[in-house]
Order: sequence, then C-alpha cells, then structure tokens
Amino acid sequence: MIQSFAHLSPLPFETCWTSPANIAFVKYWGKKGHQLPANPSVSLTLKECVTTSKVTFLAGEKLSVELNLEGTRKDSFGIKIENYLRSLETMIPWVKNLKVKIDTSNTFPHGAGIASSASGLSAFALALTDYLYFMKPDSDPALFHRQASFLARLASGSACRSVYGGFVTWGMSHLEGSSDEYACPLEVHPELSHLLDSVVVVSDQEKKVSSREGHARLNEHFFAEARYAQAKNHFRKAIDALKAGDMEVVGSILEAEALSLHAMMMTSPDSFTLLKPNSLLLMDMVRTFREETKLPLYFTLDAGPNLHLIYPYSHRNKIETFINNELTPLSQRIITDSRGEGPQKC
Ligand code: DP6
Repeated sequence: MIQSFAHLSPLPFETCWTSPANIAFVKYWGKKGHQLPANPSVSLTLKECVTTSKVTFLAGEKLSVELNLEGTRKDSFGIKIENYLRSLETMIPWVKNLKVKIDTSNTFPHGAGIASSASGLSAFALALTDYLYFMKPDSDPALFHRQASFLARLASGSACRSVYGGFVTWGMSHLEGSSDEYACPLEVHPELSHLLDSVVVVSDQEKKVSSREGHARLNEHFFAEARYAQAKNHFRKAIDALKAGDMEVVGSILEAEALSLHAMMMTSPDSFTLLKPNSLLLMDMVRTFREETKLPLYFTLDAGPNLHLIYPYSHRNKIETFINNELTPLSQRIITDSRGEGPQKC
C-alpha cells in the first residue's frame, strides 16, 4: 500500500495528531502472517481517552527515535517506535535515515484498562502518513486514512481501528471493501450511534502477559479454529444488530466476546488469567442489575481485569446512578467516555 512512497529522501517536517483509544465489541485475538487478524473485529472509537503526539522528522545519519511521555524521556517506548520504523524499511528504505522526535501525552492514566498502544500508535501512524503526503503532495487525499490505518496496523493491530470515528471494522468479512490490511468505518443505526463507555478500573497493575504474547499463545491453542469460527459468527451477528439498532443482541455478543477472550487465555497451553476476583463480582452485579431493571447495561473487557460498561446515552441517568453507588466501592476509579468522532490534526 505504501510502495508509492518508496523512493523519497527525508526532509524536515513537524506535525501533531490527537488520536483516540477504542473498545472492541468483537475481538481481534489471534494473528496470521505479518500483523494480519485471524478474524474480523469491530470496535467503538472513544472520545475523551486520547493520545496527542507532536512528531518532528529530520534527516539523520542513521535511524534514531527520541520519545518523551508527559515531558519525561521514555526510552522503552522510543525503542518500540524505532523497531517499528525499522520493520518498514523493506517498503520505505529511507526510514533508515530518519531522526524522529516525539512528544506525547495521554488524557487517561497508564494501566486504566484503556490501551494506550491503540491511541499512541495510531497518532504516530497518522503523523507518519502526514509526513509521506508532505513529501509526495500528489498523493490521493481520499486514501489518507486508509494509508494511516495500514501503517497503524503494522505497529499494533487494534490501532488501525482508531484512525476512524464511531464504529469501525477491521478484517476480511462479508462487508464490501473489507480488508485484513486496514480498517473501515461502519454506519450503524442512529439509536446506537450514541453509546457511553464507563471503564471500571479494578486494577491498574502492569499485565503479567502482554497482548502480543497473548496473540502468540493462540498458535498452539487446542480451541483456536473454533474460536475464529465463533468470532466470525459473532461478527456477522454484531454487524446486523448494529445496523438494526438491536442493543440486546449487540450486548449479548459484547459479553460473550469478553468471556470467550478470557476463556481462551485460561485454556491456552501456557495458561494464564488476567481477571481479578472483583472483575467477576462486577460482571455478576451488571447482569443482576440488567435482569432486575431491564435496562440495557452490558460489560466487556479487553486483555485486562477492568470492565468497560456499555450503555445508550438515553438511559444514562439510572445507569450512572447504579455505577456510581454500587460499583465504585469495588473499583480503583471509574472513567466515563463515549463514542468519538476519530483523530484530529492539532
Ligand atoms: C484484546 O492490538 O494490542 O484488545 O497487534 O500485537 O499490538 P498487537 O495486539 P493488540 O491486541 C488487542 C487485543 C484486544 C482485542 C481488540 O482490541 O480487538
């Protein structure tokens, strides 16, 4: 996708992008080839949980990256970006002569159960795409976000979905224009266009097993093929329900996907769990609340112990009263977010 940018030589350029986190409704868990998903996924892009990155590109003797997070140099993140850029060398060889400086900050705390890799790496991929377009101004503006999503995917799979606002799909599916290489925005029923996400932080400790490692453990997993078949089935049903505005079906898939993701971790050959006792307690409380009140409150989890509670804006008063009164004692903090419009150049 980025072959047309292969024969350039670095010029000085500075840009700044704000890009959001996203929460997957149907999960990407398991890879094939190079950063390609084993099944299609669909997520909701958030609004408040964003990363802002100012990126400076200069010509240099050799590839180097300096990264400052909230004003403090963070070499471990800098090395990740450097390795990522090195992985692009076969497509855009001139990256080996880049001197990159990144000043980045997040609106949400580290370990809050919101993946800073999706927002951070999509912000960087957007800055890099901006740089490619600056150096090759005749590039098609209509393909800007697709290029950015392609580049974000190579850094972190879930980051490719953060390039668009609202609901976003990624991976080959029955949907026209779908691809394993980049994400696509999805139109949904107006009733589901304004959902809220309250993140109940159970633990902000560093995870024992990273997502990258978690994906790898699917390679030898006895249930891998069955999981991919389930995810494909959930994907079709979720898309139909999102388009039809059927929150009950969307919610049941949301919860099934979270539980399946964590079941895969617990049943992998090298078994692990990221759930905490309070994660289970909270799931139970959400289900009991839903049964008793008939209000559309559903949970999901990413690869961590924290719950994302999803509900329509129209029911926020009663649901947020329940969350604040009943769930606060079981959590370290609660962050409330909602559907966002996608990244912005700052
Ligand atoms: C559970 O995108 O973090 O959040 O491609 O190795 O960087 P890499 O993995 P990553 O995996 C995200 C997994 C998930 C589900 C999802 O967001 O779809």
